Amino acid sequence: MSRHSALRQSLLSVVVALALLPAAASAERLALTAARLVDVDSGTVRNNAVVVVDGERIVDVRSDGQVPADAKRIDLGDATLLPGLIDCHVHIDGQSGDFYTEAFRRSPIDNAVKAHIYARRTLLAGFTTVRNLGSAEFIDVALRNAIQRGEVQGPRILASGLAIGATGGHVDGGTGFSPYIRFEGFSGIADGVDAIRAKVRFDVKNGADVIKFMASAGVLSEEESVGEPQYSQEEMNALVDEAHRWHRKVAAHAHGTEAIKMAVRAGVDSIEHGSFLDDEAIALMKKHGTWLVGDIYNDDYILTEFARLKYPESMLEKERKVGRTQRESFQRAAKAGVKIAYGTDAGVYPHGDNAKQFVKMTEWGQTPMQALQAATVRAAELLGRNEQVGAIRNGLFADVVAVPGNPLQDIRVMEQVSFVMKGGKVEKGAGAAP
Ligand code: ARG
Repeated sequence: MSRHSALRQSLLSVVVALALLPAAASAERLALTAARLVDVDSGTVRNNAVVVVDGERIVDVRSDGQVPADAKRIDLGDATLLPGLIDCHVHIDGQSGDFYTEAFRRSPIDNAVKAHIYARRTLLAGFTTVRNLGSAEFIDVALRNAIQRGEVQGPRILASGLAIGATGGHVDGGTGFSPYIRFEGFSGIADGVDAIRAKVRFDVKNGADVIKFMASAGVLSEEESVGEPQYSQEEMNALVDEAHRWHRKVAAHAHGTEAIKMAVRAGVDSIEHGSFLDDEAIALMKKHGTWLVGDIYNDDYILTEFARLKYPESMLEKERKVGRTQRESFQRAAKAGVKIAYGTDAGVYPHGDNAKQFVKMTEWGQTPMQALQAATVRAAELLGRNEQVGAIRNGLFADVVAVPGNPLQDIRVMEQVSFVMKGGKVEKGAGAAP
């Protein structure tokens, strides 16, 4: 062996030895301290909170105020620490008013250009993980990847890619327009079992983490009804079967009672909106363990901003039918013990206002603790990510937010997130990069 190659050999063994070391401990551990912490696993509040963070993970959670000697302290004072919040239903690549009357003047490229702004707003509002349910041209996949690479500031994203639905249904942007108007580009429209299976595969191939489809009609689209089923039972069954075979969960947009029951019977993982729930639908959801993701803040925003957003009158009519009933359905589901995860449909209303729904959830059937759990540990369960996010627990990503005061006493403080850490990096508040 020449001297040269011997040197190379020993350098190589050093590199190998380094690579085999346990995940390199960061130069400096951080200790977040605050008056209290919400332990969403046990549903309790702990005082004198200390959360020790090493690299991107939580390594210790204490309630004795003791800060380890080797950790740099970030003291948040009279605040409450919570796990980074999770919104299970957003449209991070769009903003209300951008997507309806502007349909003829803008393209998905406009959305793609602006998506990073919405991602940042969402993150700084305390939402460190979101599930994006329906995106034009796979913008959500590209955004997710850019955020993962650290190139764009934003939450962790579970992306659906194209939402799937029937011709003339809630995903069909041409409904209500002249048949001569065509929108080019990728489309989530699929009719019949084979086309639906192919569309699921197309989404998966292009990076979808989750499959979203339209089981019923909608409010903000021009179908006559708001809740009629838009697929046959056979079509829904095939969609869920195909998605699950690829280990993708399924989120079904469903307002109407019949569509909800069909989707639950098909085996979807979550019902989105869930506006018209009867006793049988609630019983079916309990039996199948189906989650309810009810966007029950939306109605306030749509009704107040309707004129400015230039939606057609027919949509206002539909919103009037849905809004109140959806909240009553949510309340009955919550009381009956249906599994509930936090999801807002942000994008219909401004990104960054995601936390406004906490108040509504406590007005309509949940305790403040249940609402906080819905947006953390329960949401993580629906997403299948509870070993990574959704709680302040050893080993999880250090996704931690702080709010002033105590959200169990005044849930509105959730709208004033003052500190955001994602994966051990301070994104907002004390210690954030300027
Ligand atoms: N994206 C939904 C739809 O168009 C919004 C429903 C909003 N209304 C409500 N009450 N949640 O159907």
